[in-house]
Amino acid sequence: MPDVITIHAGDVIGVIRPALHGHFLEHLGTATYGGIWVGRDSTIPNIDGLRRNAVEYLRDLAVPVLRWPGGCFADGYHWRDGIGPADRRPRTVNHRWGGVVEDNGFGTHEFMRLCDLIGAAPYLAANMGSGSPAEVRDWVEYCNYPSGSSLADMRVANGAGAPFGVRTWGLGNESWACGGTMTAEEYAALYARFATFVPTCGGTTPYLIAVGPNNNDTGWTRRFFDTLIGGRMFMPSLHGYAMHFYSWGTRSATAYDAAAIREQFASFGAMEHAIIEQRAYLDAVARRTGIPPIDLLVDEWGTWDVSEEDVEARHGLFWQQNTVRDAVAAALGLNVFHRHAEKLGMCNIAQVVNVLQASLLTSGDACVRTPTYHTLHLMKEHRGRSAVRVETPLDPATALSVSASRDERTVVVTCANPDPDVERTVQVRLTGAVPFTVEGAVITDPDHNACNTFETPDRVVPRPVSAHCSGDSITATMPGLSVLHLRIRLA
Ligand code: AHR
Repeated sequence: MPDVITIHAGDVIGVIRPALHGHFLEHLGTATYGGIWVGRDSTIPNIDGLRRNAVEYLRDLAVPVLRWPGGCFADGYHWRDGIGPADRRPRTVNHRWGGVVEDNGFGTHEFMRLCDLIGAAPYLAANMGSGSPAEVRDWVEYCNYPSGSSLADMRVANGAGAPFGVRTWGLGNESWACGGTMTAEEYAALYARFATFVPTCGGTTPYLIAVGPNNNDTGWTRRFFDTLIGGRMFMPSLHGYAMHFYSWGTRSATAYDAAAIREQFASFGAMEHAIIEQRAYLDAVARRTGIPPIDLLVDEWGTWDVSEEDVEARHGLFWQQNTVRDAVAAALGLNVFHRHAEKLGMCNIAQVVNVLQASLLTSGDACVRTPTYHTLHLMKEHRGRSAVRVETPLDPATALSVSASRDERTVVVTCANPDPDVERTVQVRLTGAVPFTVEGAVITDPDHNACNTFETPDRVVPRPVSAHCSGDSITATMPGLSVLHLRIRLA
């Protein structure tokens, strides 16, 4: 008997904001230096120092938003180190990640160039942990003030005549840990002070993001808002509230068995629960206090496997191979976000290159698209469309995960089968629309640890799937551990 998935095409949840498919780049391992940034004098083909093939792949992925420079690194980063003539930039130590020396060749202008080339909106994570409100204010002015101030004129002299117009600013990162080991009360007080000094420049009103909970830490959220709002004469600006939610694994990336996969994927159920609870809390705060609604963000998410010393020695900290399991994990995550599209403002997978659940892996001049990349690439079709309600008989994190979106002419459905051992025949039924034709692709591999290596870069890729359309439904088969993506043209 097939498992029946019902897509209620007339029951719209909300628009899938492109930013739910956001990415994150940190000065960590070889994400920035060696990954994206190879330098202008490199023999590796590059565009102004940015690895050319990575830029091309990311442009094709249409990365909607890119967060930088951290992560934990952000709370030790001083933006002035990364501007001006490259040979005069200081050599600083990345004390957070590995104690390595950085020449600051990749700074604000290089990041903006990258965003420009790949079409991403920049999201700057400002240093609250070891910086000052004045330093953040100056960075905003440097980026966004048109001209005439010393800072704006410095930007112009450094090659950017027009202001960057950066809208999205984070204040601190994981301030409960690497960002300052603060209590929620301490962070809220500091947030209010920093937020007060972030200026609107050149018509760009900043969208300010506060550090939210680790996973579903409701205590952090309650105490943060109690302190932020309680007893203050004015409410500081606050637009986004950033939760971090990783899917921790118990194996190194290519050593998973079925039990370890199931254990890791259970985190997606927990993440869904966290989104529902945190959203409900934010709504209750807004109702109770009358403050404007605040977006919930999943600022960092993705798989985090056990590190291997020899792999890290070769490729950098937190470099993890990316397997068909990650392709499924990416679909599990995005499906959660789509099903709760009305509750979320932005979600950033960690990280874009060479770190954790990366979309691209590099070595020397080679750059491969990972299984995660291919899932994200298939699923970019959902962006900007209306998410519609889906019904499945099975648990999404462990048995069958689905999300669907529609426009006037098409319904797009992504299903993930997270069970390594069970093949499923699914029958996708539509209500409120009539299917006409269907085309689709599947990502899978009989080996659950299959990956795209530098020698075999195209082992795990989407392949056309045979799906049949009859009456109001479509039938297809999903191997164990697979992603199925269907584009249904409506009659
Ligand atoms: O993504 C790696 C690290 O994970 C980030 O720097 C930090 O924010 C999180 O703990």
